[in-house]
Amino acid sequence: MTTRILFVCLGNICRSPLAESIFKETAAQAGRADEFEVDSAGTYDGHVGHPADRRTRAVAAAHGLTLDHTVRQVAQADFDTFDLILAMDFENKADLLSFSALTPEQKAKVKLFREYDPLARGSFDMNVPDPYYGASNGFELVYAMLERTAKGLLASLSPQS
Ligand code: 4NP
Repeated sequence: MTTRILFVCLGNICRSPLAESIFKETAAQAGRADEFEVDSAGTYDGHVGHPADRRTRAVAAAHGLTLDHTVRQVAQADFDTFDLILAMDFENKADLLSFSALTPEQKAKVKLFREYDPLARGSFDMNVPDPYYGASNGFELVYAMLERTAKGLLASLSPQS
C-alpha cells in the first residue's frame, strides 16, 4: 500500500519542497521509495508556478539532491488525495484546518511535521523556522532539522503499512 504525504509551508519555495526532497531521499536510501508518493504545496499563492527559492535549490544540491518542484497552492482535493498532510509550522497547520467543511478524518491527516522530530519532543517550539528572510546559513540549519525529522517520520511509518 502506498502512503501519500503532502508537505506544506507558506510559500512552497523553502521548507516544504526541501522536506519533500529530503524525505524522498531518506526513503530511497532505506530501500523504501516505492512505499511513498510525496508532494509539497503552499498555503499562500504568491509563488505559484515558480521553482523553489535558489537558496533552497543550492542547499539541496550541496547535499546531492535535485529539487525540481514547481510551486503550487494547497487545494481542497489534497485532503482526499493524501494520507498525511504535514505542516511546517503552527500557522500553516491553522491555515490548513481553516479549509471549509473538513471531515474529522480529513482534519486528522493534518499534523505538524516536527511531531516526528526526535529532538522536538516536549519542546515548546514545534515550528520549522522560516529561513526565507534570514541569513543563508538558516537553510543549512533547517536542512539538518528536516533531515532528522524525515528519518523520524520514516521510522514511524512501518513498512507495508
Ligand atoms: P516557505 O518560506 O514558506 O518556507 O516557502 C516563505 C517563502 C515566501 C514567503 C514567505 C515564506 N513570502 O512571503 O513570499
